[in-house]
Amino acid sequence: MNAVIDAINKRRSVRAYEGTPVTKEAIEQIIEAGNEAPSAMNSQPWRFVVVQDAEAKKKLLRAALPNAKKILDLVKDSDPERHAAIMKRLDEQPDPVYYSAPAVIFVIGSGRYADHSCPLACENMMLAAHALGLGSCWVGFGSMVTETPEIVQLLDLLPEEKIYGPILIGHPKGYPDRPPKKGPVVKWV
Ligand SMILES: Cc1cc2nc3c(=O)[nH]c(=O)nc-3n(C[C@H](O)[C@H](O)[C@H](O)COP(=O)(O)O)c2cc1C
Repeated sequence: MNAVIDAINKRRSVRAYEGTPVTKEAIEQIIEAGNEAPSAMNSQPWRFVVVQDAEAKKKLLRAALPNAKKILDLVKDSDPERHAAIMKRLDEQPDPVYYSAPAVIFVIGSGRYADHSCPLACENMMLAAHALGLGSCWVGFGSMVTETPEIVQLLDLLPEEKIYGPILIGHPKGYPDRPPKKGPVVKWV
């Protein structure tokens, strides 16, 4: 099996991490892989903020968690059982947003090409993490921190900037099974 295709197939979203820190070299390699992604008009409309500091991570969780709960309330009526199960997890886990990952990498983008280009940097980073034997996860809930002034300051977030990811990185505590995936829908002409 080709190594790249193998990594694409075997990468999983990891939601439980060992406490061991990730080396600076590994984080740099992961960011370089993100930075190498294709971008519309070669705009490279991204920058990266790596959060490893325990206090900063607590602040992030305090900012994100109430917003995650608010979003989940939107599915309360359509799927009450799923809603109850997720709310239980949010209340019981010590860090149900960033899963106590040792490193949280915010991919921050701006401009007309960011929405198309920044997610490609995110995927490159997750594949690079996998190739280095590390786990990763894109946590959309973790981006819901932009209404909190101290987080805006922490990330040096400008009004025109948006968060993609953030991408969690860490040594996986076990490896999740592949979730059900639909087969590709293809029309050949
Ligand atoms: C845009 C986006 C947002 C996501 N947000 C979250 C999140 O907030 N929390 C989480 O646990 N997983 C999150 N995920 C991970 C998905 O749940 C995961 O990719 C999906 O279940 C498929 O599993 P796999 O990545 O192992 O193939 C997100 C993924 C994407 C692409």
